[in-house]
Amino acid sequence: MPDLLDVRFSVNSRENAYRRIQDEMFIRGLNPRAPSRYHVLDGFGAAVFEFVEEKPRAAGEVVAHARKLKGDGGAELEADVLDFLYHMVRLGLFNSPDRDLILDKLSPRPAPGGEPPAADGEAEAFDACNYMYGRAYELMLPFKVDIEVTYACNLRCRHCYAAHEPPKHLATSEVVSLLDQLAELGCLELVFTGGEMFLRPDMLDLIAHARRLNFAVTLLTNATLITPDIASGLAELMPEHVSASIYGGRPETHDAFTGVEGSLERTVTGARLCAERGLRVLNTYVLTNENCHERHLVRRLMADNGLDYKSTVLLFPRTDMDPSPMDYRLTDEQLREVMLDGSFTPIRTRCNSGRSRFRVAPDGTVHPCELMRLTLGSLRRLDFRTILETSTLLKDLRQKDFNNPPECAECEKWRNCPRCSGVAFLETGDPMRRWPEGCRIATIYASIPEPQRPRRR
Ligand SMILES: C[S@@+](CC[C@H](N)C(=O)[O-])C[C@H]1O[C@@H](n2cnc3c(N)ncnc32)[C@H](O)[C@@H]1O
Ligand code: SF4
Ligand code: SF4
Repeated sequence: MPDLLDVRFSVNSRENAYRRIQDEMFIRGLNPRAPSRYHVLDGFGAAVFEFVEEKPRAAGEVVAHARKLKGDGGAELEADVLDFLYHMVRLGLFNSPDRDLILDKLSPRPAPGGEPPAADGEAEAFDACNYMYGRAYELMLPFKVDIEVTYACNLRCRHCYAAHEPPKHLATSEVVSLLDQLAELGCLELVFTGGEMFLRPDMLDLIAHARRLNFAVTLLTNATLITPDIASGLAELMPEHVSASIYGGRPETHDAFTGVEGSLERTVTGARLCAERGLRVLNTYVLTNENCHERHLVRRLMADNGLDYKSTVLLFPRTDMDPSPMDYRLTDEQLREVMLDGSFTPIRTRCNSGRSRFRVAPDGTVHPCELMRLTLGSLRRLDFRTILETSTLLKDLRQKDFNNPPECAECEKWRNCPRCSGVAFLETGDPMRRWPEGCRIATIYASIPEPQRPRRR
């Protein structure tokens, strides 16, 4: 049995995404079976993490390094470091060939909220997810970036905002360079979307590059092109999750909406291939006035295939402001029904557009977000950092507080309004206006007596 100080540790980069943000380390757990998905290490924990990231280390080496960092640190330091290592292994952030020994031998300290304790102090219960997003917002880092890798698509969904123009997307080397820049700038979360990404023959290579740079990668795909080989390749790369949209519980309904016969079956098969390989798959059921009566069928279809799903009722204009997708919005009565049966609950989320969230269109145009298609610059002419630092439009947008628009200041329905500044922009031309669809949704929700409202999940 090895001495505890000889036990070796390495960073589990396969199952975690991480980024150094100033003196802290922000970590996203990617393994769906891991005990916790968000972690923040303080300055000391981050320094130890980086020491172990350089190459696998024995616990004794980590203790010696910790002594250097602390200027000795006294008799308790060794026990503190071992406790830290214990939690890192328990939470799946570090690997060790002697995992069982460690879990058995090291004395666990409580780690509230699933957080490893700061090696030099008390563990504090705090919401790591909220903290990360809050910090990124304050620091105005491009923390989460959506990259539309192409607008080409093999489906023709009736509501789709993406312009299916001939592909003029960024080349492999341009996307690789973008990923390198984003890692430098403190981006942790990448969303690859489209169009349909798996029309690009280099897609797995791009995801592999992103994972080598320790990004948490989400994939929005229609999943119809996911073969067993692609699903196995994805399982190796461990994206944060894969999402595919469903537009009805029967092929007649879904396929009529996507314009392609057989697409429901292919989407469900692609999603199932991923789920069977242990990936987190979260399908989105886009509720429309044509498919919302099929909720029970969608529920059964997903359950029969071992798939999780969430529903949304949010439909917005196309990026050129063409309002036709709004024709599929639920009627007031349908909205009430889906709220009553728990298929949709309006919630407020913080708007990070242009502060800590950005979107890159296939041709390299940088926008503040998915919906606010204002042009901040082009990656074909400037790098991402220069766009952030020199765009006068971005400077102006950052003067506005999208989370506190004056028109909504007195509104009693604020808490249950899914207001989005991006859609407000698409529908009214001004991101600071009230959003009429948000008002409609929040009003219908408010009309449901409290006891009849399904409990929030
Ligand atoms: C544009 S698609 C691209 C990724 C992939 N092709 C897919 O279908 O998931 C990303 C998501 O945007 C949604 N979407 C497209 N147009 C929309 C619109 N006008 N309003 C709301 N969601 C829309 C799709 O339903 C899908 O969930
Ligand atoms: S599959 Fe995605 S990109 Fe393609 S048409 Fe449908 S929503 Fe648009
Ligand atoms: S968009 Fe409408 S419902 Fe939502 S907070 Fe503003 S005024 Fe209230």
